Amino acid sequence: MKVLVIGRTGQVGHEVCKLLEKKNITFFAPDRNELELSDDNQIQGCIDQYQPDFVVNTAAYNNPVRAENEPSKCFAINRDSTATLAECCQRAGISLIHTSSYRVFDGTKQDAYNEKDPTNPIGVLGNSRLQAEQQIRERCDQHIILRLSWVTSERRPNILRRLIDQMVVDKEVYVTPDQLGCPTSADDAARVVIAILQQLYCGAKPWGTYHYSTTESVSESNFAETLISEASQHQELAVKKLIMAKIDSREGIKPPANATLDSSKLLNTFGIHAKPWRSAVARIVHDHFKPVEP
Ligand SMILES: NC(=O)c1ccc[n+]([C@@H]2O[C@H](COP(=O)([O-])OP(=O)(O)OC[C@H]3O[C@@H](n4cnc5c(N)ncnc54)[C@H](OP(=O)(O)O)[C@@H]3O)[C@@H](O)[C@H]2O)c1
Repeated sequence: MKVLVIGRTGQVGHEVCKLLEKKNITFFAPDRNELELSDDNQIQGCIDQYQPDFVVNTAAYNNPVRAENEPSKCFAINRDSTATLAECCQRAGISLIHTSSYRVFDGTKQDAYNEKDPTNPIGVLGNSRLQAEQQIRERCDQHIILRLSWVTSERRPNILRRLIDQMVVDKEVYVTPDQLGCPTSADDAARVVIAILQQLYCGAKPWGTYHYSTTESVSESNFAETLISEASQHQELAVKKLIMAKIDSREGIKPPANATLDSSKLLNTFGIHAKPWRSAVARIVHDHFKPVEP
């Protein structure tokens, strides 16, 4: 099995590469210098050069605030490059595993979203994610689209890092009880991607769209309380008070209120179980405060 991983420097991409290495699976993971997604020739070039059996695309333009100010760049990376990638995969008979996001939904549903729920993205980023999915469905038969909820890790910006960075310096931290999600550690998401890959390699062909998120959803405010109890074991925090704020626009855009995803289709189809998030959060917080080795 030969795998081409796109987005190796990202939260999930980094963990996918680590797991492929650990499992001795042959993979290629060009970084942006070799594969700039806004360049169709580079996409085709990498497919021709590495001739993979599978492409795992975890790359994305992920900043919802900047996306509102530069929509064409966001659509070029998230939709147009994905369309090119899907076409290249289809032409070469390569199977594509593409990670997507809860942001294809408007977040107004009261409980977990399943794959049959109507999509209704709010904002540029959400629309670019949905249109990327549509491009894949139109152009590449052998595809798995894996939608994720809140992705967390120690390595790059995410909700966990944002809250902890604020708690370390600010006496008061604004959080909202109205936003729900499932903190999913990047290595857990990578576990799911590799488990799917291995079953596809063994001949399974349940092409389509799947959701993965950890077992329990949590509000941003309760998540912040968990982070305070975890982080204060490692360092004295400045935060004395969590201020409950409305979910209204933060930095100009309103995030989907509910990012909870139902993972039962993934379980029923691939036998992949969802994990709880607390132990992973404890580990990420520990790594965050771990002294950096010289
Ligand atoms: N982060 C979340 O909370 C979240 C939530 C739901 C779904 N997801 C989805 O999960 C997947 C992984 O997300 P993540 O958080 O791991 O992403 P991330 O940490 O933001 O990393 C994004 C990756 O995409 C690469 N990339 C961006 N623009 C590129 C371009 N023009 N050409 C080549 N590479 C480019 C980045 O490379 P550089 O290092 O060179 O910038 C990086 O490797 C994505 O599909 C994302 O939409 C994420």
